[in-house]
Amino acid sequence: MKKIYAVLLSLLLGSLLNAAEEPSKGFLLFKQCAGCHGADGKNKAFGKSGVIAGQSVEELMESLTFFKESDFTTHSSTTVMVKQVKNLSNQDLLEVSHFISKLK
Ligand code: HEC
Repeated sequence: MKKIYAVLLSLLLGSLLNAAEEPSKGFLLFKQCAGCHGADGKNKAFGKSGVIAGQSVEELMESLTFFKESDFTTHSSTTVMVKQVKNLSNQDLLEVSHFISKLK
């Protein structure tokens, strides 16, 4: 019995280590989004956003670029997203969009 646990544990550790070895850039960037959009991207952030998981890269890029280029400064939910993407490069947005589009 103990042996089975040892095997399971090493499998689990092995997969964790593999994941830690080369986490994709999109995955790392998404950590910043998960708090509001959910680890699986299925939360409606603040009850306002749509579900972002599985949206196409084009749709995601359209929203993210809109937020990035906007000059909103008033207190609104959109301002929240503007802050999220202000310091991300277009390449970052593309990587995170690819990651989100693959969330099931
Ligand atoms: C502090 C909470 C918060 C964080 C963190 C956050 N978001 Fe958002 N997001 C929101 C809110 C609120 C909205 C709705 C904004 C609006 O409608 O004006 C939204 C909307 C969106 C939308 C549009 C979704 C739609 O179709 O309705 C996308 C795409 C998105 N966020 C992606 C991201 C990505 C990518 C990140 C990480 C880089 C991120 N968000 C981080 C709160 C957050």
